Order: sequence, then C-alpha cells, then structure tokens
Amino acid sequence: MADIDGPIGLFDSGIGGCTVLSEVRRRLPNEHLLYLADQAHCPYGPRTPEELCILTQAGVSWLIQQRAKLIVVACNSASAAALGYLRQVFPNMPFVGMVPAVKPAVLATRTGVIGVLATPATIAGGLLQTVMNRYARDVQVLLQPCEGLADAVESGGLNTPATRDLITTYVAPLVAAGADTLVLGCTHYPFLANQIREVAGSGVVLIDPAPAIAEQVARILASQGMNRQSDHAPMLCCVTTGDRDTFSEQLARLQIAPCTIQETNYVLEDSLATRHADWP
Ligand code: DGL
Repeated sequence: MADIDGPIGLFDSGIGGCTVLSEVRRRLPNEHLLYLADQAHCPYGPRTPEELCILTQAGVSWLIQQRAKLIVVACNSASAAALGYLRQVFPNMPFVGMVPAVKPAVLATRTGVIGVLATPATIAGGLLQTVMNRYARDVQVLLQPCEGLADAVESGGLNTPATRDLITTYVAPLVAAGADTLVLGCTHYPFLANQIREVAGSGVVLIDPAPAIAEQVARILASQGMNRQSDHAPMLCCVTTGDRDTFSEQLARLQIAPCTIQETNYVLEDSLATRHADWP
C-alpha cells in the first residue's frame, strides 16, 4: 500500500532530471520530492540497455526503500532502455517515464520536418521508434545523437566554445534540412535551450516535455488518491551517488535549493538501511 506522505522519487544519471524536478515542484508544490542523481555512472547515453537496466533497477530499489510513492524516470536514456523492465520488476509502483516529445512536435511543425536531439541510447531505443510509428507517419523525422552534450551540462560548460561547436555540429544540419521544430530528447538539454536557439534561429520551436511529464504525475496522483494531505512544509531532498560537494555546486548554479543534499552508495545494503532512517 503506497504511503501518501512518502516522496515522489525522481531519477536521472545526473542533474538533467532537475529540468523535470522543477516542473513537478511547480505543479505539485505540496509534495515531498526525492531526487536521485546516479552521477557515479554518468553519462548514461553511451551505455548498453543491459547496463541501464541494472543501474536503474538499483536506483529505483533505493527510492522505494525511501518510501517513494511514484517514480519519475527523469532520463530519456534510462526510460528508453529500462522502463518496460522496471514495470515488470516493480509491478506495484506507478512509473512515469520520459518519452521523446514527437507527438507535440508533429502538431507544431509547418515544414513537415522535425528533428530529435537525444543521446545515442535514446536514439537506439525502441521507445522512440514506437512514438514515431504512432505519431509521425506523415512527417520527416531527423534523428540526431548528441554525444557529449549531457557531459557539457554536468561539467557546467554551457557557454564554452567546445559546447557551442558541438551544438552547431548537431543542430545546423537539421535546420539546413528544413526542420522547424526540435525535440529536446534528453533531460539535460533544456539547460542548453538558449545556446541551441542561437544556432537554430528564432523561427525554430524547441519542445521540452517536462511540463507534460509533471502534468502526468499530477493526473496519476489525483486518480489514485495519492496526493499528500499534510499542511507541514514539503521536503526536497537531493541525493547523488557521486561527489556531494560537486553536486551541491551544480544545484546552486541551477538555483535549486534543497532541504538536504546527500551522497550515497546505495548498492550496499548497509547504506540502504542508513539512508532509509534519514528520510523523515
Ligand atoms: N538526462 C539523461 C537523458 O535524458 C541522460 C544523459 C546521459 O547521462 O547521457 O537521456
């Protein structure tokens, strides 16, 4: 039985899922939120589906230990490889995953050409193919794997010449091929929206699925009677499998102010027990 006072858990390889966290926080301001960044294993984009299943299962197990009542897999790469697997392994847990926002892009395009910017794992994953088959039969979809962009966001190099060069390499050919709508198919990329817009031009629409994801979380909580009822202030707790100080600096740069920031090695059973006791 879900604990309605438990947190919504959000999971990503790093800080990218914070783009989703911010929207969920805005949409559901009375919910406890627990954000887990698996920075010890970031980036996820170049990893195999098998690796991503193992890593996400470990992260999700940890979130469940912390009494998460719903889990947002705030990572396109992890969703592409592991969402179906996670639903099988944890059949009682409601999951919301990231699906590349092809459907709204198809509705928005006027040229009939859309681009999808994503990690190699997302481009190779079946989820993207499924949404393309369902929604994009009548438009041309240009798929662009963007190796290195998530790393640029993790390292804080949003405005470096190297990052701008990468964006130009990935985005300029899509625009030259007629794309007027670009799907941000990795949760790290909204942090680069301004830089992408500079290359793409103001006429190109960028689609970030985060608001729709937050809406879906709200719908599920409401339909299952799982909204938190307490009048006490909600907690935002951010946890990394990487380095706590680096994570704190990244969150500060993004102007995300959690109640607590922790570091965990949740693969160890002992640490699971310790962290479980930490959660209010
Ligand atoms: N933010 C993630 C995604 O949406 C992962 C990026 C990465 O770690 O490569 O795919």
